[in-house]
Amino acid sequence: MSALPTLFARHEEQGLPLHEQLVRTLRDAILHGHLPCHSRLPASRVLAADLAVSRSTVELAYGRLEAEGYLQRRVGAGTYVALAAPPSPPAPAARAVTLSQRGQQLLDAAGQHEEPLTLASFGSGQADPLAFPHELWGRLLQQQWRRHGEALRRYGDPAGLPSLRQAIAAYLAQSRGVVCHPEQVVILNSSQQGILLTAQLLIDPGQTVWLEEPGYPGARHAMQAAGARLHPVAVDDEGLNPAGTHPAPRLIYTTPSHQYPLGMTMSLPRRLALLELAQQHDAWIIEDDYDGEYQYDAHPMPSLQGLDRHGRVIYVGTFSKVLYGSLRLAYLVLPAALVAPFARTRSAWDGHSNQLLQAVTAEFMNGGHFASHLRHTRLLYRSRRDLLLDALAQHCPSLAIPHSGGGLQCAALLTEPRHETHFTALTDSANQAGLGLRPLQHCYLQTAQQSGWLLGFAGLENTRLRQLCRQLGELLQ
Ligand SMILES: Cc1ncc(COP(=O)(O)O)c(C=O)c1O
Repeated sequence: MSALPTLFARHEEQGLPLHEQLVRTLRDAILHGHLPCHSRLPASRVLAADLAVSRSTVELAYGRLEAEGYLQRRVGAGTYVALAAPPSPPAPAARAVTLSQRGQQLLDAAGQHEEPLTLASFGSGQADPLAFPHELWGRLLQQQWRRHGEALRRYGDPAGLPSLRQAIAAYLAQSRGVVCHPEQVVILNSSQQGILLTAQLLIDPGQTVWLEEPGYPGARHAMQAAGARLHPVAVDDEGLNPAGTHPAPRLIYTTPSHQYPLGMTMSLPRRLALLELAQQHDAWIIEDDYDGEYQYDAHPMPSLQGLDRHGRVIYVGTFSKVLYGSLRLAYLVLPAALVAPFARTRSAWDGHSNQLLQAVTAEFMNGGHFASHLRHTRLLYRSRRDLLLDALAQHCPSLAIPHSGGGLQCAALLTEPRHETHFTALTDSANQAGLGLRPLQHCYLQTAQQSGWLLGFAGLENTRLRQLCRQLGELLQ
């Protein structure tokens, strides 16, 4: 209702009595949808004070509009809009605009916006929202707001809330073999922001970046936006395989804990070879550990960062998979010399991450809730992974799952080659039936070597998971 004084000003110069001006203002606002049906108007005393008119002027106007059917007034309940605005005409066509060359490059690199996928399909690689401790989280939110609200409402450190940086450093040392001081942890809104920031600060246009083939499209987009020369490097059962002839890299992007999208874990010899190679070429490595917490069959392999003796690895972690995607909290663990340039640049981009949510996450970790949430969800998702493998073996014998040891989704490959148009038609009809299949093709920089889909399983309860596998099997026959 704070817009009413502004709306009222539009009718001021018409020489009409004040109450008539107010009637016209309110009527226009209702008819144009600025005051939606059922919205509450201010009490006449309050509006009179806001508009600097007498209360009887407002009463007169409200009374007229009630008689005309625009408003409804109930004693004790207030004054409400009683009429819905007629449907508005379609928005005018957008004028063509010319972006800057940089803008066009960013847009070209941004890929397609994907419609949010429903949770009840294979389309989501997200955590199960029902497994999240909502009540506890709500209590911690209230508690942090009550105890530290004043400090949390102020602008914060661009590198992140100290308590969260400490909690993350301790957790990473215990669980992921990351060796770092809390000062090396920089909190961001997403892994994607971390990869973008790294690309912008460390890559000049034309410099070579190695990307896993197939690999994570988000990393490809970030590198493309920085003008990098993208160089695909094949993966095998041990992860990124640098054998063969390749242009010298300035940066290597890799997902060693759980390769995106195929799912293998990088072997120790490969890790050591990659670190050696980065040292030889004076190159950086981005280690994207997006869901390394979820390993079902073996002990998680310690991070590349923990093996790095030369400060070449930039470790990226996120809470998107272990807590929930819209939390928008992630972090980088940086070689010490990069912390200040990264934090300053980040501060010029968007300041810092949400202070209250950082404080709640820190409390969630320090209180032991994070560890128990991980234990609980690891067991839950492992049982769903087992069920998925059983149901696929039963209903979809023509699909192979080469790596299923971790994560919230796995890659299913077609063992009998199908023509591309047939594969596309199959994907389309499956998706019309609500299966949410994501083709692996999108993960290739070059022509896809394998046909298949990413199947999210972690957020699907058992009956639905079985039903989806049965439906997929019927389509594949
Ligand atoms: C390989 C990889 N890295 C990062 C992310 C996303 O993390 P964030 O939500 O923090 O950007 C994803 C999400 O699916 C991913 O698959």
